[in-house]
Amino acid sequence: MNKPFYITTPIYYVNDVPHIGHAYTTIAADVVARYYRLRGYDVFSLTGLDEHGQKVQQAAAKAGIEEQVYCDGMAPRFQNLWKRLNISNDAFIRTSDAKHKSIVQKWLQYLFDKKLIYKADYTGWYCTFDERFWTEKDVEGGLCPDCKRPVERLSESNYFFKMSAYGKKLQEYITKDSRAKPPLFIAPWIRRNEVVGFLDKSLNDLSISRPKSRLSWGIELPFDPNYVAYVWFDALVNYISALDYLAPKKTPSDNPFKKYWPATLHLVGKDILTTHAIYWSTILMALELPLPSTIFAHGWWTVNGEKMSKSRGNVVDPNAIIDEFGADAFRYFLLREVPFGHDGDFSREALIGRINSDLANGLGNLLNRTLTLIERFSHGRIPEPVASADTELEGKIKKTAVFLPHAELGIHLLPDKLEFNRALEAIWGLVQLGNQYIDKTAPWTLAKKPEDKPRLNTVLYNAAEALRFLSLTLYPFMPQAAEEMKRQLGLMLNFSKPLLASEVNWGSLLPGTEITKGRPLFPRIETTTKTQGDIRVTQDQQPSPTPQPSSTAATPQATGPAQQITIEEFQKVQLKVGKVLSAERVPKSDKLLKLQVDLGGEQRQVVAGIGKTYEPESLVGRRVVVVTNLKPAKLMGVESQGMVLAAGDKEVGGLVTILEDVQPGTKVK
Ligand code: MSP
Repeated sequence: MNKPFYITTPIYYVNDVPHIGHAYTTIAADVVARYYRLRGYDVFSLTGLDEHGQKVQQAAAKAGIEEQVYCDGMAPRFQNLWKRLNISNDAFIRTSDAKHKSIVQKWLQYLFDKKLIYKADYTGWYCTFDERFWTEKDVEGGLCPDCKRPVERLSESNYFFKMSAYGKKLQEYITKDSRAKPPLFIAPWIRRNEVVGFLDKSLNDLSISRPKSRLSWGIELPFDPNYVAYVWFDALVNYISALDYLAPKKTPSDNPFKKYWPATLHLVGKDILTTHAIYWSTILMALELPLPSTIFAHGWWTVNGEKMSKSRGNVVDPNAIIDEFGADAFRYFLLREVPFGHDGDFSREALIGRINSDLANGLGNLLNRTLTLIERFSHGRIPEPVASADTELEGKIKKTAVFLPHAELGIHLLPDKLEFNRALEAIWGLVQLGNQYIDKTAPWTLAKKPEDKPRLNTVLYNAAEALRFLSLTLYPFMPQAAEEMKRQLGLMLNFSKPLLASEVNWGSLLPGTEITKGRPLFPRIETTTKTQGDIRVTQDQQPSPTPQPSSTAATPQATGPAQQITIEEFQKVQLKVGKVLSAERVPKSDKLLKLQVDLGGEQRQVVAGIGKTYEPESLVGRRVVVVTNLKPAKLMGVESQGMVLAAGDKEVGGLVTILEDVQPGTKVK
């Protein structure tokens, strides 16, 4: 029997426009779900929509339609976005589902019968926008402390849940949480401390009803038809109601509730931790049901340093990002950029930076280089390796690999840790190792001597095998890219099934497998418009109508007026497109970089004085312009067989780069 793993996202307000915040929780949940499925867990992952409440009622009234019709019209925006983001949820709950409603009513009746729900009068400050009462001390200047809209004095009879009876019990339960004894009930640790602090004060009882005179779009209380349930009570129950009618039953006697409850992980944003850690926990205690294993609260995204809001007009639409950069790049960015419990800032520049450095130059380049080398030196088939002495690569991969519970990834992705960024860092350590492996072993040099053929085959095999492992480790994060890697490498993996022991052994890649080199996994995003803009600013300050190309060799440049030359003289300089295969710093120099450049039929080593402007890794994969008929020279003892062109005077401003996919070796004239 596979171990059950039940993961949930919050259910999102149906009237909201889906944004990066919704996408964040849902993507994180999807990565966890996919990861544990690969590991062989019986995963049930749930997301859905919170459809009741005043705002929906008002929006439907404004549109002149029934609430249900309004909700049915809005729901697909979320459902379609999840499809586009490749979210693999097993079920999608909507709180307007008839079955959900009857389950909420069942539990309300249960609590009422147990006298844990009672009726009382309440007077307080009510905020219509937030649909909630505030106490005297919360309200300053007659404004809602949350949305800053005016509040009104309201007195009404309502039904209350005896939440106060559970405060101390819950505090004891949470303080049992110990870092030494995982899993944490409330994670990360700092949030657990906040909740414990909150529980130092005694809890009030919780109003769980709204009079129908004020709000009719909700679930009717089974014991009083004049009221509907408070939307949070209704919404929180989704986590258990879904198990009753949406979880798969393989046989009629299957009991999904028994199997999946308590949930392994409720993922929520920090703003809704109180409702989950306190309301939901105390409700569960009253229902005599076990509490979820972990409630994990993640941080919030700002956009270009500002809070995201409709009024600021800076709400990031995930659909637009997918259109421009693809779902995987977005998934990667959100989880790589900031530690999961922290707040983060979203910006286009940061996203493009990650795509170019990590995805295009790092991963994409590794795949591309490996397949190019296999095409060139092994007729497009995975070669037969000889005994491998490259234990570093193999060892590191095993240490990080996806499938071993004690491997790095297993530890980072424990439900109460969720260190997605560190998991990705570890995986990118492998990407870098793979690229360095190719640089160090230099297959293009091995290919020159027939006696090196066995070694060449081994190197190519190992690089491809490393990529096979990378496709496995990356699948939970970037399912499309993993599928594409699988296709290009000609692998037989089935990511939707638990990994087989044979698939996770180093060396199980089959020699003879035909590869299909395809489009780049992640094309570089060229920021030409932006760059041009920046250049214009500089030129405005310091006009320079004919910018002087400057060589990047460490020789002083003439700065006087340009001397005229004939076309014949110019043609003496042989310029070609070169693709940077690898780059590293020349020891003891902060300026010089040693580049290996593919010039089509040949490979050259070029030393360039661009190390103050560029990090070596950022150059890999770039198409540059190389002076190929320059006499070889030694720079700091390292031979340079040519020169790359760059702009700038004393300092290098930018490398001359060909943006189009021009064949290395093409003449520049
Ligand atoms: N309907 C309730 C949840 C009920 S769960 C039983 C709700 N919905 S929501 O649509 O407003 O928000 C859902 C999630 O989106 C929350 O986890 C919230 O933290 C998250 N985010 C909303 N804006 C966000 C950011 N700017 N950044 C990150 N996440 C944010 O609350």
